[in-house]
Amino acid sequence: MSEQSVSNIAKQFGIKVVGHKQIRKGIFRVIARNGQSYSLKRMPKPLARLKWIDRMLLRSNNKGLRLVWRNPQTPAGAKLYAVSSKNELYVLTPWLAGRLPSPRSLGDMRACGIALGRLHKAGHNGLKGYFSYSQIDTWPRTLQVRQRYMQKKIAQANRKGYGNTAIAVFIRRHGPEMLRYASKARALLRSSGYFSYRKRPRAHGVLCHGDGGPSNFIMNAKGTNLLDFETLHVDLRAYDLYRIIYNSCKDHKWNFKIAEAILNGYRRIAKLNKTDYKLIRTWLRFPLSSYLVLSSFNRFPLTEKGLRWALSSERRIGPFLQKLDNYATKHSR
Ligand SMILES: Nc1ncnc2c1ncn2[C@@H]1O[C@H](COP(=O)(O)OP(=O)(O)O)[C@@H](O)[C@H]1O
Ligand SMILES: [Mg+2]
Repeated sequence: MSEQSVSNIAKQFGIKVVGHKQIRKGIFRVIARNGQSYSLKRMPKPLARLKWIDRMLLRSNNKGLRLVWRNPQTPAGAKLYAVSSKNELYVLTPWLAGRLPSPRSLGDMRACGIALGRLHKAGHNGLKGYFSYSQIDTWPRTLQVRQRYMQKKIAQANRKGYGNTAIAVFIRRHGPEMLRYASKARALLRSSGYFSYRKRPRAHGVLCHGDGGPSNFIMNAKGTNLLDFETLHVDLRAYDLYRIIYNSCKDHKWNFKIAEAILNGYRRIAKLNKTDYKLIRTWLRFPLSSYLVLSSFNRFPLTEKGLRWALSSERRIGPFLQKLDNYATKHSR
């Protein structure tokens, strides 16, 4: 995007841009004439959804919870969105100084767990009267669709669809194991208590961030801040706990200490019961890493190395879940 386009979008928020840096496609750090920095980000969601996200965040923002979002009491935060010449929505939030949490620091992970617990707690109350965008019902279907997709890719390799490449050989050899994990996850869901939770969505649904993980927190002297809300939706809290555990552990050899720190933090704010743990286990057992590599998803290219990484990840999850079970026995309500 040209400098002029960035300036034009920022101008709609009353900001005169004197410098900007692209962070990623659709995200810019912009510096205003008064020296303030902001994040200007494309919001690839319909306007109605953006308005709901905004309402939920403004309703949930309270002293203990730190959300990197607009402050409607400030001039730059008065407006929710701007529209680009291509008709895309952009949001503006203050650029916060700080650092990303590190999964190597159990203190950081604990702080992230606390922040997530606070979001759920505040969001649960904030949702009253605005209960929408719920994904509570979608779990069985999502797992089924992903499993079928993997089946299709594996069948393709079996029909020699990828020829005799290392990728094809790997998929033919290990595909059945990946699918076993997927079936296991779906069996876990059936025995988890999910269907009884689902009958009372308003009792069990919370405001979920949707993609918790080290890159969506910023820590500084004032506290632990949450950002990047485009996946905000209503769900069972286990979904968010699963996301943050997955994102924090996947590149750290599924070291259970990391998850333990997150859960210890979360439980400072809200208790967890047996079904919550079973629901976390369900999602973790689904072979998401393999699924992402097989579908050659962003940042997960379909290569032999990617497949090896994914399979070794899936294999570590078994013992990891055993530890999660032991933890659940000790710490459920
Ligand atoms: N307001 C902000 N203050 C400080 N850092 C930010 C801010 N917005 C984004 N970032 C940094 O940019 C990265 C990407 O932004 P994010 O909104 O999470 O986009 P993505 O959807 O690509 O994950 C974040 O991980 C964070 O490090
Ligand atoms: Mg992010």
